[in-house]
Amino acid sequence: MKFVRFIMKNAALASVPKHIEHFSKFSPSPLSMKQFLDFGSINACEKTSFVFLRQELPVRLSNIMKEINLLPDKLLTTPSVQIVQSWYIQSLMEILEFLDKNPDDHKVLGEFVDALVTIRNRHNDVVPTMAQGIIEYKEVFPQDPVTNQNIQYFLDRFYMSRISIRMLINQHTLIFDGATNPVHPNTIGSIDPQCQVTEVVQDAFHSAKMLCDQYYLSSPDVILQEMNSNKKSQPISIVYVPSHLYHMLFELFKNAMRATIECHENSNNLPPIQVMVSLGGEDMSIKVSDKGGGVPFRRIENLFSYMYSTAPAPQIGDHTRTPLAGFGYGLPISRLYAKYFQGDLQLYSMEGYGTDAVIYLKALSTDSIERLPVYNKTALKNYKMSQEADDWCVPSKEPLDLANFKMGK
Ligand SMILES: Nc1ncnc2c1ncn2[C@@H]1O[C@H](COP(=O)(O)OP(=O)(O)OP(=O)(O)O)[C@@H](O)[C@H]1O
Ligand SMILES: [Mg+2]
Repeated sequence: MKFVRFIMKNAALASVPKHIEHFSKFSPSPLSMKQFLDFGSINACEKTSFVFLRQELPVRLSNIMKEINLLPDKLLTTPSVQIVQSWYIQSLMEILEFLDKNPDDHKVLGEFVDALVTIRNRHNDVVPTMAQGIIEYKEVFPQDPVTNQNIQYFLDRFYMSRISIRMLINQHTLIFDGATNPVHPNTIGSIDPQCQVTEVVQDAFHSAKMLCDQYYLSSPDVILQEMNSNKKSQPISIVYVPSHLYHMLFELFKNAMRATIECHENSNNLPPIQVMVSLGGEDMSIKVSDKGGGVPFRRIENLFSYMYSTAPAPQIGDHTRTPLAGFGYGLPISRLYAKYFQGDLQLYSMEGYGTDAVIYLKALSTDSIERLPVYNKTALKNYKMSQEADDWCVPSKEPLDLANFKMGK
């Protein structure tokens, strides 16, 4: 029996490339917030969701698996990236098993929920494992700007794909496990149709404050204002995933607090962090402003880079790193969360003074549509880019000796 299972598993494994080839030919189907809500509304149909997911999950997985294969060989073959790749293969195989199962069979639907939970757990550590792969790669190979750019391009797409896959899995498992969320009974899966933005701001601020107090023994206060241009006196609420919003704000607060404390080390008064929440016809924006000394303009782009900011994993017993600064993925991943539903996250800094970080989200749920990577010729071209000469002059380090140009008199 064991032998038969072994043979069957190997046969399934051998057919994986064929399946990836097949499913990557389809483009992922981005869902709108409204579609997510419909899947979970009163007439929610588990069968429809099952039939959609058993096709859509392989499509999203295969699209990004094609791109994993395009990574530079030296990165692809690191033990960490190999592990991540094996997780993707395993999960793809597990979903494919449902392709020929009967959607009307309740047992099948139950098994599907269990399979999704297993897959979600398997992929919990994808981000730190991938980060470890980048560290392994960086330790051995010198970096060049083209590889850095390729890896940045890939990781933005890879993590965005991951966010979207987890969103699909969370919605299905939360909605169809039969229980309601005891704390937020009105949520539909992980979406709150009336997400109170300032409440999330306060939650995230308090969590960051606790960390900051623990480490620095003090923390800046917050001044929170909101401007609802639609209904002047009402608190701002949008259709959104509160956990995504919380994630972004928590990261921004940790950064703002650390900068504030480190910039005002010798002062008794910490300037407060100011937050402005504003709702217009199209955007819901949140600005987090600190007086933490800012960042030089030249560095801003690098703050969103996975290659420049990946710090080595803190060693056990190493107390030199602050809990407010980890692997340097705070900003790039937060920006992906913002972009996932067509928003953005930007930093405006004034070196010597402070930084404004702004989260832009869509005010209308009809505009909140998933933003998904698709594997196609354009994507392929991005990986094939080679190092070419800059089409802007590179200033020489040596000052030009104008004497050479003097005409003999
Ligand atoms: N508000 C800010 N003021 C000054 N510098 C900032 C600010 N926000 C970010 N930075 C700089 O940008 C870097 C990258 O920020 P990011 O949040 O991505 O990573 P991190 O804070 O180093 O680690 P992690 O967020 O993963 O714990 C920070 O290390 C810090 O130097
Ligand atoms: Mg950070």
